[in-house]
Amino acid sequence: MKTANLTDPLEIRGIRLRGRIAAAPIATASADPEGGPTPRSLEIYRRLAGSGVDLVVVEHHAVCRKGRARLAQFRLDSDPAAETNRPLAELFRDADCPALVQINHAGSQIRDEALLAEKYSISAPSEVKHPSCALALKPRAMDGKEIAATIESFAAAARRAIHAGYPGVQVHACHGYLLGQFLSPITNLRRDEYGGKIQNRARLLFEVVEAVRPVLGNDGVLSVRLGLSDSFPKDPPEGLCLEDGLWVARELGRLGIDHLDVSGNLCGYDAPGEAFFADWARAAREAAGKVPVTCTGGIRKLETAQALVAGGACDIVGIGRGLQKDPELVRKWKEILG
Ligand SMILES: Cc1cc2nc3c(=O)[nH]c(=O)nc-3n(C[C@H](O)[C@H](O)[C@H](O)COP(=O)(O)O)c2cc1C
Repeated sequence: MKTANLTDPLEIRGIRLRGRIAAAPIATASADPEGGPTPRSLEIYRRLAGSGVDLVVVEHHAVCRKGRARLAQFRLDSDPAAETNRPLAELFRDADCPALVQINHAGSQIRDEALLAEKYSISAPSEVKHPSCALALKPRAMDGKEIAATIESFAAAARRAIHAGYPGVQVHACHGYLLGQFLSPITNLRRDEYGGKIQNRARLLFEVVEAVRPVLGNDGVLSVRLGLSDSFPKDPPEGLCLEDGLWVARELGRLGIDHLDVSGNLCGYDAPGEAFFADWARAAREAAGKVPVTCTGGIRKLETAQALVAGGACDIVGIGRGLQKDPELVRKWKEILG
């Protein structure tokens, strides 16, 4: 079998990538009060769209007001909010740079005290304080009605993303946000059909995927960013285990998602070393069948990126902080690759 190269094109449903290097989603906390881009946001993303990357995953956008992590977060929670986001989506089209927009519900992982001034109840799978939330919050366990409304919020946000001009969405199911809170037995203590064994803890994610797929139409790309485990590869296992995370990846493949992006769940995304999720990405790629997989996390050198793709660990490499540090990084790599 021919080995893949960073400069090989790749088709993901309705979009064609020129190569295999993606800009990972990085929250800029730069949105305006309507949840749309400010001049600073447009400048950040204009530069990223012209940086030589083959795909941009635009930072997490809240699917509803209660699903925000921060005040200055982007939102796709209403039709007017989608309209204000149109210039951001169009910027990528103008730059001929494919971009997916990430949609998220923060659940109990609120990162901004200012949100609490709005005095709404914080929702989560169970009444468990989030282990990595610095604020003293006691969330309320979601009931069936709120779960159904959340699924509908993801579907509506996806419909708005397409309307705003994006060719697809990425469902955020990692880093301990709501869908990750359901996946983890640390934050999910429910005794109903959404709690207990992994088949139940993953139910909300699967229902979100099933609700989002039809609203994207034939060409819309459905990507999932999945936190495969609550503990980093070299740490003692606790909470969501890798075996269960890989089972979820396999089922997502069966459900027909178009792209899988691998990351950590409650442990987050920042472990020591280079390409710290490489083994997880390889395992997820095997589990998910033909679904193209992105590996992100600690990729700093061109040789590392090349080896990951050529060695079959992943189809796409994601770069986050490396591009923040050096916006010319990918351009320099592409000059070397020719
Ligand atoms: C400031 C900051 C904001 C981030 N925002 C998001 C986000 O909105 N969505 C997401 O899935 N990951 C987010 N991440 C995680 C990155 O996408 C990426 O997984 C992480 O930085 C590890 O990759 P890197 O070593 O290449 O930076 C964020 C990371 C940082 C440092």
